[in-house]
Amino acid sequence: MTNNEEFEKILENIDENGPEPQEEPERQYYFIKKARALVKKMSEELGRPLISSVTTFGCQMNARDSEKLIGILEKIGYVMTEDEHADFVIYNTCTVRENANQRVYGRLGALNSMKKKNPHMLIGLCGCMMQEPEVVEKLKKSYRFVDLIFGTHNIFKFAELIYTRLISERMVIDIWKDTTQIVEELPVERKYPFKSGVNIMFGCNNFCSYCIVPYVRGRERSREPKDIIREIEKLVADGVVEVMLLGQNVNSYGKNLEQPMTFAALLREAEKVEGLKRIRFMTSHPKDLSDELIEVMKESKKICPHFHLPLQSGSSAILKKMNRHYTKERYLELVRKLRAALPDISLTTDIIVGFPGETEEDFLETMEVVKEVQYDSAFTFIYSKRTGTPAAVMENQIPDDVVKDRFDRLLAEVQEISRERCARFEGQTMDVLVEDVNDHDSSLVTGRLTNNLLVHFKGTEDLIGKIVDVHLDECRGFYYMGTMISK
Ligand code: 5AD
Ligand code: SF4
Repeated sequence: MTNNEEFEKILENIDENGPEPQEEPERQYYFIKKARALVKKMSEELGRPLISSVTTFGCQMNARDSEKLIGILEKIGYVMTEDEHADFVIYNTCTVRENANQRVYGRLGALNSMKKKNPHMLIGLCGCMMQEPEVVEKLKKSYRFVDLIFGTHNIFKFAELIYTRLISERMVIDIWKDTTQIVEELPVERKYPFKSGVNIMFGCNNFCSYCIVPYVRGRERSREPKDIIREIEKLVADGVVEVMLLGQNVNSYGKNLEQPMTFAALLREAEKVEGLKRIRFMTSHPKDLSDELIEVMKESKKICPHFHLPLQSGSSAILKKMNRHYTKERYLELVRKLRAALPDISLTTDIIVGFPGETEEDFLETMEVVKEVQYDSAFTFIYSKRTGTPAAVMENQIPDDVVKDRFDRLLAEVQEISRERCARFEGQTMDVLVEDVNDHDSSLVTGRLTNNLLVHFKGTEDLIGKIVDVHLDECRGFYYMGTMISK
């Protein structure tokens, strides 16, 4: 849903005093209208608009989900702010590592003090962390001031849940274990007018032994290609030039559709959308990376020459314990194939240090792969034990000091390589999508190369959302300073 007028017309035809529709998304439109009336009344009583903020933890999936939450909040009549001094504060949580959970608990303490000063303030929690039963138990017991708790499978019900909370005084909790449902055509408010994430699938079937995502995001469900393409077309009509196709494992897209379709075939369809300039995707699992996908990337004029290919570990023995279904050799073979087809491609990765049973030799194998592949950048993580995953009960959990030492060595290596890799485009002219006015110097704008690197150059606000040619004058560590050549 991109068009406000279109949406208002739909709402006009809904009788908010009639019976609740059973079908989605009509049911949510009905609750948007009902909640809107309540919010309007409250804001008239207060003599000011009601204000809301959504804070996102975690990955791009969560960022996209937050855009959906904001879309609904705005339709209900809340005015969005970044400030947590608001009437309705929402945390969209992540639970991939333990420290993400700790951050949420810490910040909830601060919200409680704010709520004491402003008792009508509402606090909502959603996202991956809420899919863990222990978390919800803890919230119910020790965080009674939270008003609304829901999970990853039912965010489409946000309007209905808000309404339920507004007409009662009780904590509303609605968590689903899993779902097969995908609700289309709900309001979304994009963070950037010119680029957008597009979900192509939800959930994950891989069960990597360290990872909690399959438990909190449920089984893999692909969206119908026609729904995806229609969303992209609407986004383009609304000014979007770059899309990021999102899924936990995009390479297994379409396997469970009634009419199965490969991810490569979906990319071919997306390529045809007129006016769309750039296509990105995230995340790929090496075990499902097909030759067909590499071929499509090679032929494409729109798919960005950037591949995020999580390695996790360079040791085949650890990869086996991680249940990753590839070996170090197979991974390196994929890298060779990608580079043979697309010599300039940027490769990025995720690496976990300190997985149970990781020996110094295993770790050195990871270091070797890093040196061999020469990643443009790598996200490095300290292994975090997630209750309920197979790795949590594996023997030989690695002591903190050993992990920290390995982590520091890996990070130093990764950063040195990134710096060298970044500099390889110096002196070239490349196209840049301008994203923002520079934070530190307002005479500069900041844009992104197709390989995902950032460039700062002299320019004005009106360039935002445009693709321009920029000469890359100088690499400064992990970004460039450049000069615009043409619009
Ligand atoms: N501990 C540390 N890192 C993890 N990741 C996923 N689960 C864990 C965990 N238990 C990392 C992986 C994944 C990225 C999104 O987060 O590297 O690719
Ligand atoms: Fe994203 Fe995974 Fe974190 Fe959920 S748990 S927000 S899917 S990284």
